[in-house]
Amino acid sequence: MKISITEHKLPKSGALVIGILKGGVLPATAKQLDKASKGAITKAMKASRFTGAKGQWLDVLAPAGIGADRVLLGGIGEAKKLDRQILENFGGTAYQRLSKCGLKSIAIACDPVKGAKVDLAEGAASLAYGARLASYRFDKYRTTLKAKDLPSVSALSVLVSGSTTAARKQFKALDAIADGVFMTRDLVSEPANVLYPESMAKECQTLSKLGVKVEVLNEARMEKLGMGALLGVGQGSPRESRMVVMRWQGAGAKTQPVAFVGKGVTFDTGGISLKPGPGMEMMKWDMGGAGTVIGLMKALAGRKAKANVIGVVGLVENMPDGHAQRPGDIVKSMSGQTIEILNTDAEGRLVLADALWYTQDRFKPQFMVNLATLTGAMIIALGHENAGLFSNNDKLSQQLFDAGQEVAEGVWRMPLSDAYDKKINCAIADMKNIGGRDAGSITAAQFLQRYVNKVPWAHLDIAGVAWADSGKPTVPKGGTGWGVRMLDRLVANHYEGGK
Ligand code: BES
Ligand code: MN
Ligand code: ZN
Repeated sequence: MKISITEHKLPKSGALVIGILKGGVLPATAKQLDKASKGAITKAMKASRFTGAKGQWLDVLAPAGIGADRVLLGGIGEAKKLDRQILENFGGTAYQRLSKCGLKSIAIACDPVKGAKVDLAEGAASLAYGARLASYRFDKYRTTLKAKDLPSVSALSVLVSGSTTAARKQFKALDAIADGVFMTRDLVSEPANVLYPESMAKECQTLSKLGVKVEVLNEARMEKLGMGALLGVGQGSPRESRMVVMRWQGAGAKTQPVAFVGKGVTFDTGGISLKPGPGMEMMKWDMGGAGTVIGLMKALAGRKAKANVIGVVGLVENMPDGHAQRPGDIVKSMSGQTIEILNTDAEGRLVLADALWYTQDRFKPQFMVNLATLTGAMIIALGHENAGLFSNNDKLSQQLFDAGQEVAEGVWRMPLSDAYDKKINCAIADMKNIGGRDAGSITAAQFLQRYVNKVPWAHLDIAGVAWADSGKPTVPKGGTGWGVRMLDRLVANHYEGGK
């Protein structure tokens, strides 16, 4: 869909979307339309108890005296509460309500609102961004869709009553972030027969067009580096494992980089500790952490972030096989620490152990944030509303929490301590890869922490948020792309333009 921000000129056809404030207060464009239609707008509002409360929507079809084929009124609530998130959701919902209506274009009127938390430019950019995020589809494998099942709308414009320059500039950066979110959603949605370590590494290489330096480590290279933990997970699969290092150099050479590390298990059968059949297909998105890291790199490079950023993803497929790793096997990680594998389904932490160690060792980052669909227990604890945050650093934790609140990708901090750490002590190796049934997400995090030295580090367990069975205004159901927006915010808020 083509999205643009244009000067305020009422359309001669298509759908026109107007926000109405709580109490039925009409912004300038709505007043203009009401007059042109001899009161049809206010009449329609009265005839349906439409008060402009947030979340109310009202279709006014074919109103006389107005060029547009239909007008969609949406409640935007109180002026003083009007912020980016409300406007993104408004743009997203408006798109979703109209995308298949049969018309070809949507115009959303954006008037200045006194007392709002955003100015006109930010408001217009937010509306356009919300619509863009909502327009995501993954239908490349649907060969029999009929025209009526597909969007009819091919263009959306936000009409700004004022200068468009600032709004366009802001939207350009947001559009680049949406490109990153879409890439993550695509990666997470692809099935494992198409997306496996090697093909996923190829996807990473497409970022070189944007100026990202991409390096792919094959199994021979990882063996030389001593990555026995990661390689053990992949050894039952005919697909070779990969590690990919992506580098975006948006700041001076002297600026220490920040690093993001992702779990990329392209399919997790559980291995010899095989998972039960029902629902196993979900494990195609067990590469969601890596997917977010890749989408984030795309977003940052796309908007030319003034930061030095490293993205590292460990890509493996966890399969049962004659060559697969067995329960009881002992592997040696790159750090030198040995691990007794008591459950081959606790594989994500093994992949991350080597990816984290490698990242801190080679790049000496300011911080490391890793993302992983690590534990089912995380979904039991926090459901699908927040990702779990585990960290050795209060400042980084607060920055992550705040960034999450800004973009509606929430995190909730979970504890770490020696008492939990003890649970993975082992009699025959340096540690075991599971800690028992209790506090499963925390013992998994403790395991990761054993591969982190003094560097500020945070682990985001995204098992509950990487995939959605029901949609939200700007997040259609399916792969969510969770984390791209909040980590982009984290970088923008604290790690750009400094030093
Ligand atoms: N990838 C899974 C975790 C997962 C489960 C993510 C459901 C999303 C939805 C992970 O590799 C796993 O299997 N974890 C085990 C750990 C256990 C064996 C200690 C789990 O959560 O059951
Ligand atoms: Mn597993
Ligand atoms: Zn897994």
